[in-house]
Amino acid sequence: MRRALHLAEQPIWMIPLILAWLSLFHAPLLSDGVSFDGRVVINEMSLTLMEEINMKENRMNSTPQFPQSLPQFPQSLWRASSEMPSFPALKEDHTTDVAIVGGGITGITTAYLLTKAGYKVTLLEAGELFVGTTGFTTAKITVQHGLIYHDLVTNFGEEAARLYYQSNKEALKWIIQTAEELKLSCGLTSEAAYLYADEGDEKTLKQLEDEFKAYTRIGLPGEWQDHISLPLRVGGAIKVPGQARFHPLQYLKGLLDVILEKGGVIYEHTMIGEQVDKDGGKLTLYTEQSKHKISCRHAVSASHFPFYDGGALYFARLHAERSYCLAIDPETDYEGGMYLSAGDPTRSLRAVEWNGKKLVIVGGDNHKTGQGICTHGHYENLEKFAGELLGIRGIPFRWSTQDLITLDRVPYIGKTAEDEEIYFATGFRKWGMTNGTLAARMIADGIQRQNNPYKELYDPSRFKARPSIKNFIVHNANVAKELVAGKVEIVHKKTQDLEPDQGAVVFHDGRRVGAYRDPEGKLHLVDRTCTHMGCETEWNNGDRSWDCPCHGSRYSYDGEVLEGPATVPLTRLEAEK
Ligand SMILES: Cc1cc2nc3c(=O)[nH]c(=O)nc-3n(C[C@H](O)[C@H](O)[C@H](O)COP(=O)(O)OP(=O)(O)OC[C@H]3O[C@@H](n4cnc5c(N)ncnc54)[C@H](O)[C@@H]3O)c2cc1C
Ligand code: FES
Repeated sequence: MRRALHLAEQPIWMIPLILAWLSLFHAPLLSDGVSFDGRVVINEMSLTLMEEINMKENRMNSTPQFPQSLPQFPQSLWRASSEMPSFPALKEDHTTDVAIVGGGITGITTAYLLTKAGYKVTLLEAGELFVGTTGFTTAKITVQHGLIYHDLVTNFGEEAARLYYQSNKEALKWIIQTAEELKLSCGLTSEAAYLYADEGDEKTLKQLEDEFKAYTRIGLPGEWQDHISLPLRVGGAIKVPGQARFHPLQYLKGLLDVILEKGGVIYEHTMIGEQVDKDGGKLTLYTEQSKHKISCRHAVSASHFPFYDGGALYFARLHAERSYCLAIDPETDYEGGMYLSAGDPTRSLRAVEWNGKKLVIVGGDNHKTGQGICTHGHYENLEKFAGELLGIRGIPFRWSTQDLITLDRVPYIGKTAEDEEIYFATGFRKWGMTNGTLAARMIADGIQRQNNPYKELYDPSRFKARPSIKNFIVHNANVAKELVAGKVEIVHKKTQDLEPDQGAVVFHDGRRVGAYRDPEGKLHLVDRTCTHMGCETEWNNGDRSWDCPCHGSRYSYDGEVLEGPATVPLTRLEAEK
């Protein structure tokens, strides 16, 4: 299913940009099914695009194997160490007050607040609860969100930067209070957060100094340090005391118990399609598979990528970025503290208790989803960093996940159209423990017609000219480049070349297709054209999935949707005739 662009519904400032984007980049007939002279197209492309195509070829032709020290399969420590109840799929039409789409921290916290306020709430989840980013996060709860406050002061002004800080501080406090109130055993531990610049990285050090000045201007209590207690040489660091870490799923399980106790209803394996009908004060949502209706007065998109666009063009205003995590058993004692590098490559550290041991979660190595080097290389980079820093006795878990980033790096929270009771919460930029919580609180306020001081800051319809125009063009030019590069990729591999547990784009029956040979030797073939808007997905060998470089949709090796915006699976192809 392809999404339609409704130009008439777009804000006026968007229309010339959309038209320029479409006419510049989407005009060529570059579908796999259409014959064209690839060389002519290539000659007209920029050098950057040629480099991109070569890089894709290299990526496709590599045949990585995991080093033995890394677990063969990804598994999130949080999911492996929590037992969750399961819920049925929706098998009939359904009526409720509030339909919440998505069972991550945003959806569950919203459901918690609204069931407590007496609303009839139904939560609809495409897979199982916490199969999205929440189940794979690092779970630092902090107001220190990398380098952000200096940018906010520059682009939004001092008052807006202060509101961003205040809203996240309140969310942090709310999480702690709720965990205490409900007496949750969720490993909630107070920690200081540190943002550091590596020694010798003068550019980042300057950015960190600007960030520190912004802290002072908005009243964020940070402390400058020339050294940190990790064996890392830093140019400087900002410490923020009084932050926290927890086990996110044990915390959310506590909220879930209250939701169920208060009569909340949950359906799993129920994907909601992008159609929403409005009739007076009533909304109707539909399940993707069977088109069962969900009638409600308020709908909440807590689906990470919005399940419904409503003319807001979220696909052109959000990009997906993946990062990687290892849970390591360190050889040396880890004193504690939650660390984050301000420069590249990103490195993140925090402790976690598991099976009577203190492990350290080492994270980082960001890249745009579906783009960059072979994904297993990112795990290896983290392993090397962790080995040099702390020494490694073992690595019980490795996993990766992605988050969405808005044009101006501030989440989109609220309604796109004032007269529509559909609320959105997305674009948390890897800070969704507090941002997801504050989004839930804002949405609950909106539904209860209570004022919220942060409504304007997070308004999904806003457009802050300074960062947004540039980022809009960069993001959509990148999408266009990926769209073209995927169509002209040069592929040498054949299905016979694939070893067990290997995937690649192969040449098969006269066309390029996605292929994965499972550990038992069975071949799975898919048409790898993304069902969202037609870009070509790429094989992710670290997680055995097909990832779309355009807007971040992901599919399992046999084509099932793992993450949106796509809601329709890849077409499976007959493997062997
Ligand atoms: C590597 C990494 C580390 C991170 N670490 C931190 C951290 O330390 N601290 C922090 O604050 N934040 C962190 N984050 C960010 C944080 O984890 C996310 O922002 C947050 O979990 C997003 O929660 P969510 O509920 O909005 O989305 P999700 O958890 O993704 O939940 C959305 C749910 O909606 C479902 N869904 C999607 N489409 C549909 C549909 N059509 N119908 C029905 N259901 C649907 C999905 O299956 C999913 O379960 C990190 C992110 C990454 C990538
Ligand atoms: S084309 Fe948009 S996610 Fe694939």
